[in-house]
Amino acid sequence: MTAQKVLTMGDLQQDTPVRVEVDGVPIAVVLDSNGDVHAIGDTCTHGDISLSDGFVEGDTLECWAHGSAFSLRTGRPLNLPAYEPVPVYEVTIDGDDVLIDPAVTKVVN
Ligand code: FES
Repeated sequence: MTAQKVLTMGDLQQDTPVRVEVDGVPIAVVLDSNGDVHAIGDTCTHGDISLSDGFVEGDTLECWAHGSAFSLRTGRPLNLPAYEPVPVYEVTIDGDDVLIDPAVTKVVN
């Protein structure tokens, strides 16, 4: 599997998640206030809710339904009710293009 272009930088607004699908994998893409682009699994591990409908706060994305905030860097939920992490995908910026490989997940300790 190779990284695929999913968006351009112009498609991203700061702290506004965008939902994309890469090979059927739903992914939430976020441009944070530091200018970093993150890609994490879009489905909350607590319920079948799209995290890209939630709220960005710093480097977290909060599920709107019950309030678990997931780290955009590690995928880990920082508070209950979710306790399982979501995947974190490698993002490559190539010029203006945003590429994601849905088969590659970062492991952050
Ligand atoms: S569905 Fe996300 S915290 Fe419950």
